[in-house]
Amino acid sequence: MIKIESLNKSFGRIKALNDLNLNVKRGELLGIIGPNGAGKTTAIRMACCILKPDSGDIIIDGYSIHDDPIKIKSMIGYLPEEPNLYERFKAKDLLKYFAELYGVPKRDIDGKIQELLELVGMTKRSEDRINTFSKGLRQRISVARALVHDPDIIIFDEPTMGLDPETANSIRNFIRHLKGQKTMILCTHYMEEADLLCDRVAILNEGKIRDVGTPQYLKSKIHGEVILKIRVKNAENIDLIKNELIQFPSVGTVNFVGGEYLISLKQRNEIHDIVDVFGNEVLSINTKEPTLEDVFIQAVKG
Ligand SMILES: Nc1ncnc2c1ncn2[C@@H]1O[C@H](COP(=O)(O)OP(=O)(O)O)[C@@H](O)[C@H]1O
Ligand SMILES: [Mg+2]
Repeated sequence: MIKIESLNKSFGRIKALNDLNLNVKRGELLGIIGPNGAGKTTAIRMACCILKPDSGDIIIDGYSIHDDPIKIKSMIGYLPEEPNLYERFKAKDLLKYFAELYGVPKRDIDGKIQELLELVGMTKRSEDRINTFSKGLRQRISVARALVHDPDIIIFDEPTMGLDPETANSIRNFIRHLKGQKTMILCTHYMEEADLLCDRVAILNEGKIRDVGTPQYLKSKIHGEVILKIRVKNAENIDLIKNELIQFPSVGTVNFVGGEYLISLKQRNEIHDIVDVFGNEVLSINTKEPTLEDVFIQAVKG
């Protein structure tokens, strides 16, 4: 449904996208995870025909961003990172304005707006002005706005960033509710969110896709049954210790992040000897199942 082909974009000396290739299947929810500055928003804005690439193309349902931007815009619902709403509009009027702009048939508009307000839990606030809304309520209205023309494709850019946990959860619930009905892209730097919601996840770093697959597949690739986390007093001789650790047959990979060694283990039989390597430098020891975050750390360092 969406084919991103050899996309490149530089801003001055910064290469925001570096030969980016990615496909999204019809009806799929694809997550793009990556740290700040990875290039997520840049890629998405190109798919929405807001920004042009230096080279490369995005083909959406057979249409190219170079040749058919108007057609593509009509097919996509876009929730930007920083929604720009008309402050003085009432919630209902804002949705009506966008419905008319997108050419929704007049007789359908009122019903559509009611349905969307219901979906985002804003029916009671429909007569209130945007400038009286909190960040969470604005995000709800932005979601409704993105859906007003019933697009086949929906792109969410960091939809839960900075929201209270309750609103973040209801936004995740809308996305879940739409799964299967729409083709969706979810950009997020919350790995757990991607793990929870997405059919497949692409790991983006420095404008390049590092890996892509189902969350299970990506997690199984860091072939650890378990991650051993050892917090140490002093972050010294890290390379020396890493070297020593990878000599153990059960050790897959070793990373040092935030004062902690993350050691992926294929088996648990050598844990005791592994811990001994650290002598009395050990502050705490934990084990956990691998998460997408671990996958991400691997992919970005690798
Ligand atoms: N309009 C712009 N002008 C200059 N640099 C930009 C612009 N937009 C993005 N960048 C740079 O491109 C890189 C990718 O940014 P972005 O796509 O926003 O990343 P993400 O959404 O993953 O955080 C960053 O280094 C960012 O500073
Ligand atoms: Mg961004």
